[in-house]
Amino acid sequence: MKIILLGPPGAGKGTQAKSISNRYSIPHISTGDIFRKNISENTPLGIEAKKYIDNGQLVPDQVTIDMVKDRLQHDDCENGYLLDGFPRTVSQAEALQEFLQKRKESLDTALCIEVPRDFILERMTGRRVCPSCGASYHIKFNPPIEGKCELCGSDVVQRKDDTEETVKERLDVYERQTQPLIDFYKERELLSTVDGTKAINEVFESICTILGEPV
Ligand code: AP5
Ligand code: MG
Ligand code: ZN
Repeated sequence: MKIILLGPPGAGKGTQAKSISNRYSIPHISTGDIFRKNISENTPLGIEAKKYIDNGQLVPDQVTIDMVKDRLQHDDCENGYLLDGFPRTVSQAEALQEFLQKRKESLDTALCIEVPRDFILERMTGRRVCPSCGASYHIKFNPPIEGKCELCGSDVVQRKDDTEETVKERLDVYERQTQPLIDFYKERELLSTVDGTKAINEVFESICTILGEPV
């Protein structure tokens, strides 16, 4: 199964991705998590990406596309994958289509988690993340117990780009550069949508209804 997750910052892509990856036994590939790992390890890719991420801008397409193509050729992607945060521009979506076509493969669905702008600021400023495995928590909606990640036990932290100012910039970038992908996938009859304003477990149930039983 090959799935991409769409939706604004704070829609709950990362939160749902952890559960989807578990239930359908496919790797969760988050471009944001890969960039953050590279930043924490001070790699050349991390140094380049940090210039953009800290300001809420997108990392240039070619850097991102090369990184994802490389990742999709790992053995664990043989039975499918879940892309979270990629594609994010029309050029990235076209590059992914081309990559799939060359391999005679196709996407199963582009799943968009819809959340209006008004909900997002509270979600983002209350978010805490696990620096080791990327799990997301929220001080009010999904509080970490004693400040530790439930999945791996690391201390959770606040993301540097979760300040009010950067979140607003990220939302603008989303509207300008990523929202056009909704039509891109609608035209290709691959789009499905879920209401992301519901509780975390209810959103997951709607997603499972769309994806069906694991094979
Ligand atoms: P990325 O890490 O992908 O950030 P994002 O898209 O801005 O999305 P978020 O991770 O902020 O939100 P999410 O939808 O995963 O929400 P979450 O589940 O955590 O990208 C970061 C940066 O990297 C970009 O700005 C860009 O610079 C760069 N980048 C990444 N990919 C790129 C690409 N393809 N091209 C170029 N640049 C790229 O949930 C949010 C909060 O809400 C959490 O606290 C959570 O607990 C809570 N929550 C979740 N669901 C619910 C619910 N149903 N009810 C209540 N609270 C909820
Ligand atoms: Mg995320
Ligand atoms: Zn963790």
